[in-house]
Amino acid sequence: MTSTADFLKPSGRGALVIDGKIAAAGVIEENRRNTQALIARGVKPGLAVVLVGDDPASGVYVRSKSRMAEQLGFHSVQHNLPADVAQADLNALIGRLNADPAIHGILVQLPLPKGLDTADALERIDPRKDVDGIHPVNAGLLATGAADRALVPCTPFGSMRLIEATCAALGRKVEGAEAIVIGRSNLMGKPMAQLLLAANATVTMAHSRTRDLAGVVRRAEIVVAAVGQPEMVRGDWIREGAIVIDVGINRVPTADGKYRLTGDVAFEEAVARAAAVTPAPGGVGQMTVPLLMANTIEAARRAAA
Ligand code: GUN
Repeated sequence: MTSTADFLKPSGRGALVIDGKIAAAGVIEENRRNTQALIARGVKPGLAVVLVGDDPASGVYVRSKSRMAEQLGFHSVQHNLPADVAQADLNALIGRLNADPAIHGILVQLPLPKGLDTADALERIDPRKDVDGIHPVNAGLLATGAADRALVPCTPFGSMRLIEATCAALGRKVEGAEAIVIGRSNLMGKPMAQLLLAANATVTMAHSRTRDLAGVVRRAEIVVAAVGQPEMVRGDWIREGAIVIDVGINRVPTADGKYRLTGDVAFEEAVARAAAVTPAPGGVGQMTVPLLMANTIEAARRAAA
């Protein structure tokens, strides 16, 4: 992250806009330096990405991960398996990658095609190579306050970095702040709540069964929306001066038969009330692949220590 607040842009309509691309450029620069330092010690970070099936969106994500790994000078491998691969073959590939000393990070792109047991595959990944931070060992380390020994999932990790940098730029503290996380998924909501708790925020976890969600969100100085519902969080739910992190990326059909991407927060409405808001796209999403690389570098550094 850059030390100045150049990632915060005036919107001209109230809130500052948290520019994920500028924040991510700082992470990419850090990754370059850290990769060079490891390579100088004879350690080349190695990332294996496993794609099962031919889901086009997953294909796009996986290519961007492999591309950034190559640009950084990693040892980068991608395994494409057919949608009807046998569980035993997927598990055997994970076993081979666990045993390969040139590989420090293993990422199995989700969702897996129907018929495969996701938990069975993910729990076979060596936790030290689990750069998605999805293995129960890493979730457990984070939940027991040992984040320094865990690998943390990239989207909440990126969200937390944006929250910390924004708080610092605005002269605020995460410690003691009222924070709400909307959504309780294993890859986002739960680890996000743990990261905020580790930073001493007062954390509320809300979800689809929360009563009076608008009223609960209105208390929060930090709002993280990760529900996958286009523009569900309305402007009048937002407390004046809140920091709003929108993790959603939803496809909404348009009148001309195409679609547009939108977040979980009604952005223009939130801008009128918040102190700072991430756009979606262009916010948190920019941070995730660079932080996946940072996790791979960290896994390589630990393996070489
Ligand atoms: N699919 C969508 N997001 C993710 C992610 O963060 N990790 C993996 N492995 N698959 C995903």
